[in-house]
Amino acid sequence: MNDLKPLENDGSSRLVIRLMEQRDLEDLRVMHNADDVLMRLTDPTHVSEEQQEAWFKSASTSRSSRRYVARLRGTDEFIGMFRVDSIDYINGNAFVGCDIAPDYQRQGYAREFYNYILSYLFGACRLHRVELVTLEDNDRALNLYTSLGFVKEGVRREAIFRDGVYKNLVAMGLLASEWKK
Ligand SMILES: CC(C)(COP(=O)(O)OP(=O)(O)OC[C@H]1O[C@@H](n2cnc3c(N)ncnc32)[C@H](O)[C@@H]1OP(=O)(O)O)[C@@H](O)C(=O)NCCC(=O)NCCS
Repeated sequence: MNDLKPLENDGSSRLVIRLMEQRDLEDLRVMHNADDVLMRLTDPTHVSEEQQEAWFKSASTSRSSRRYVARLRGTDEFIGMFRVDSIDYINGNAFVGCDIAPDYQRQGYAREFYNYILSYLFGACRLHRVELVTLEDNDRALNLYTSLGFVKEGVRREAIFRDGVYKNLVAMGLLASEWKK
């Protein structure tokens, strides 16, 4: 495998899911800069419009990363973003992550987005394994990952400096065989 296959359809029951486009940039930037999202990312730096444009140019030509966007079917409201990074085509591995815009959290959208993208990565793209990291105190994220089948594989001790203290990062992984179950 030397590239990810295109998405097979246009999303899930409630969400239109597709590759990030130029018109998504401002919605992505606003979500990224929201306190609720920013403080749970490993790099909590505000992004300017110029930085977002420059990032888009490099991100949209990268072979090792993909960004997918979810919008509400019918109304086109921006719901969130799914990242697939460090795609390793030889070993069938990738890093994943997803953020949901604050007004749309706790309505099952992250679960729907993960179900769709993981089925695609393990199915059409035949990846063997995906992994992620999250702050140890991000209960919402940890509950979600555990319920999707991710297994805790380790702790990167005090890897993140946040709110004046060093916090642990939890590393989790999910194998294709575990996802099929
Ligand atoms: C973490 C995040 C992606 C979850 O998105 P979401 O759309 O709110 O999640 P969902 O509504 O799909 O809920 C999925 C699961 O999360 C857990 N969950 C949801 N709300 C929760 C809450 N208030 N407390 C604890 N767990 C909760 C549950 O396990 C839930 O499963 P259930 O619906 O079967 O009960 C979202 O809160 C977010 O973007 N947060 C800010 C940025 C972030 O943390 N990104 C991830 C970095 S690793």
